[in-house]
Amino acid sequence: MDVVYPPERTFVTRTGTTMRLRPIRPEDVPNLFAFHERLSIESLRMRYFTPRRRLTNEVARHLCTVDFRDRAAFVASPLDSDTIHGIGRYERDAPRSAEVAFIVEDALQGQGIGPALLARLAEHARSQGIDRFTAAVLNENTAMLAVFRASPFRPQVSVEGDCAFVKLDLTVLPEPAAAPAQRSLLPKAPHRGLAPAPRLLAAPE
Ligand SMILES: CC(C)(COP(=O)(O)OP(=O)(O)OC[C@H]1O[C@@H](n2cnc3c(N)ncnc32)[C@H](O)[C@@H]1OP(=O)(O)O)[C@@H](O)C(=O)NCCC(=O)NCCS
Repeated sequence: MDVVYPPERTFVTRTGTTMRLRPIRPEDVPNLFAFHERLSIESLRMRYFTPRRRLTNEVARHLCTVDFRDRAAFVASPLDSDTIHGIGRYERDAPRSAEVAFIVEDALQGQGIGPALLARLAEHARSQGIDRFTAAVLNENTAMLAVFRASPFRPQVSVEGDCAFVKLDLTVLPEPAAAPAQRSLLPKAPHRGLAPAPRLLAAPE
């Protein structure tokens, strides 16, 4: 796959630690397994609505091999190592829309890593012609809903049963000047259809 990897950025957590937000890469498979092992059943349940833990080699390779056009993922890592402490990913579900999902290591939750991943993912998505994020979240997931509600992306939340469906408007970000090669892959007209039903990103981290 001919992938143009987006640049790394750094950010400072609420406890004052500087971390990197870097694009995931195929060689992250061992880091992903280690991250997955450190996640609690509760975090996995919030992410996948089921506390399943099994991560196969095939799924791990799939999660680490993204094109940064229709599928993108950024990971939070320390300055001095590539260990993974949080992941934000999107998968395009319509020409100008993508579904997002996040997971942060339990011990580091509440430090602002989720919002930093959302901001980086949104910036990159905008450069790929995506102007809306969707997410499906358990109603009880106050942490994830707090991240969306605190974002600048005019969150719209609709509740159906146990689930909250969230839409974020990325057009609040300035339209980026995309590289010509990337631009040519984008749809010529804006997508004007109805919002597709949000779906869960199925595979475990
Ligand atoms: C949801 C999640 C990604 C948010 O990321 P984060 O880095 O913790 O985000 P923040 O640091 O901004 O915390 C968000 C809010 O939740 C609170 N919070 C975060 N983790 C918490 C925890 N374990 N217990 C209680 N509150 C928590 C924070 O205090 C903050 O509340 P505030 O805005 O009132 O201060 C992260 O908590 C997570 O990975 N959860 C498990 C997986 C999950 O739910 N994924 C979402 C599926 S799309």
